[in-house]
Amino acid sequence: MSTTNASTYRPDPADLPLLRGTAIDGMPAYEALVNEAQTDRLGFWARLAREHLTWRRPFTRVLDESNAPFFKWFDDGVLNASYNCLDRHLDNGNANKTAIIFEADDGTVTTITYLELHARVCRFANGLRERGIGLGDRVMIYLPMSIEGVVAMQACARIGAPHSVVFGGFSAKSLHERMVDVGAVAVITADEQMRGGKSLPLKSIVDEALAMGGTDDVHTVVVYRRTGGSILWDETRDCWLHEIEEAQPDTCEPEWVGAEHPLFVLYTSGSTGTPKGVQHSTAGYLLWTSVTMNWTFDIQPHDVFWCTADIGWITGHSYICYGPTAVGATQVIFEGVPTWPNAGRFWDMIARHKVSIFYTAPTAIRSLIKASESDGSVHPRRFDLSSLRLLGTVGEPINPSAWQWYAQEVGGGRCPVLDTFWQTETGGHMIAPLPGVTRLVPGSCTLPLPGIDAAIVDETGVELPNGQGGLLVIKQPWPSMLRTIWANPERFRHGYYPPELGGNLYLAGDGAIRDPETGYFTITGRIDDVLNVSGHRMGTMEIESALTANPLVSEAAVVGRPDETSGEAIVAFVVLKGPRPADGDAKQIADQLRAWVGKEIGPIAKPKEIRFGDSMPKTRSGKVVRRLLRSVAKGEAISQDVSTVENPAVLHQFSQHT
Ligand code: PRX
Repeated sequence: MSTTNASTYRPDPADLPLLRGTAIDGMPAYEALVNEAQTDRLGFWARLAREHLTWRRPFTRVLDESNAPFFKWFDDGVLNASYNCLDRHLDNGNANKTAIIFEADDGTVTTITYLELHARVCRFANGLRERGIGLGDRVMIYLPMSIEGVVAMQACARIGAPHSVVFGGFSAKSLHERMVDVGAVAVITADEQMRGGKSLPLKSIVDEALAMGGTDDVHTVVVYRRTGGSILWDETRDCWLHEIEEAQPDTCEPEWVGAEHPLFVLYTSGSTGTPKGVQHSTAGYLLWTSVTMNWTFDIQPHDVFWCTADIGWITGHSYICYGPTAVGATQVIFEGVPTWPNAGRFWDMIARHKVSIFYTAPTAIRSLIKASESDGSVHPRRFDLSSLRLLGTVGEPINPSAWQWYAQEVGGGRCPVLDTFWQTETGGHMIAPLPGVTRLVPGSCTLPLPGIDAAIVDETGVELPNGQGGLLVIKQPWPSMLRTIWANPERFRHGYYPPELGGNLYLAGDGAIRDPETGYFTITGRIDDVLNVSGHRMGTMEIESALTANPLVSEAAVVGRPDETSGEAIVAFVVLKGPRPADGDAKQIADQLRAWVGKEIGPIAKPKEIRFGDSMPKTRSGKVVRRLLRSVAKGEAISQDVSTVENPAVLHQFSQHT
């Protein structure tokens, strides 16, 4: 580990080598943009939308606020997202530029040019159309990290069929729940996925989900043959992806859609037991992924960009499928896991593919720090990382010491570390340093991007001065914001524009504080019942519902506790229908419940710890006292007032580890 003191290390971008032609050239240019956005908000967004997107029919209206908070942007404009990501690069000399360098789990590398990617997307889009799938139909995607994943998403965009990608780590039940909610007509999946040398089923999970019922509209299941592993086959419904592609021509007229046409619905966790389908638009969303590729990542023609996220999350949508292709970048896509065959995999891949911009999650960094401490051969210094020029992080707060290590050991002290704050709902970066512009401070995502009007308010919506922590809000709508929650507009309105704050502020769901001197933002964590485990967003209520669905369980409460590697760890407090298990049985029942949660939601939701008590600590009015459970989970002595708790003795039981 570096010996530099985290609190005193303040690299000044002025000390960093000049970047090759930054999109925003220094702080005065940043301030000019912020100013432009403030003084002529609509003109600012209209200018960006004209510069970054290719329109079939230009828009004449920039923003329609008449039905706020259901905002519409550029809504009389017509375009196609896949055309913007592919076709327009074919005529500007980039047809033979590498679009994707795909590295499989076993190290096999496949590259594909923009011309080839375009052809594959067209073939696949034609095949979907031939099966009657078109404008407005929802298509479920349950695929591993692959070129095929991008082809599938782009093909849906090409025919105007909103996709809904589900992360391959979710269970059949989770997939089913999302499929029913979104009303899917087709599913695109693979036989199996390969991760860390192991094959994991996908198609059989789709079969299981479809057997649960309520999915009669699903008439087609397209299967990408990844491993050749044996799968069940339904002749009336299933078809091979390669056979579809082989049978089709390599051009396909895009479906020209209105700017507000939903590009996709992506499910994420909130503070209720059911995940919510975050609906994004076509133009506003694509605009911001393209702008932020330029501003935050300063993307240049010769860059090799690598975002390690999965396409099942928003980061994989914005900074794998859409952003990099919209700007015609070359990017790496990786099938496997960072620790296989060893924890030097990321560094080895950066060296081999000459990656210049690397974007990953703090959890990955923390686990690789740990690994390199115990095995020097996987330390980043052992690899030639000289191609790197920018480093980014996303998904959770990055602690200053991990930031430091990333900057020094991976970036060699040369590369700015961009701590990007944003959410599934925001579509792209909201608060993030800009290379060559922002003086960096480890642990802070620094300043909002131009056009993003972020503030911190109290519980009544009153803006707080710098130095005082409160709720992070966005005061003005922006083009890439979610449009609604699929089939649940009221959940959108109440959840994101709560009446308590006046109904006109977007509530991010995070706490934040601004530095008194610099005005920099630091995110202090979620203010709702949402956990962030290894950068994966999980609702405590979802896990509680899964646990209480088990026949053994009477009550369950789930909280997060800080964890060195995963950021937060899931701790479940459980009351069984039968007696509290004796020490010998507790472990076995805990394992059983963990496996159950894995089946109900997916392995990512398995509690790290499960603790048993005779009853839940509750107030006299029957409310579970979560603040006490959080303290218990952290192993803190209960020094708080327990006089309102009806049964304080159970706190002692819950303090026991199993
Ligand atoms: O709590 C914030 C945290 O992740 C949440 C959004 O999660 P999700 O919608 O899954 O999107 C993750 C990828 C964009 C936020 O509400 N979060 C995200 N980025 C940061 C962060 N917390 C602190 N610092 C960040 N840079």
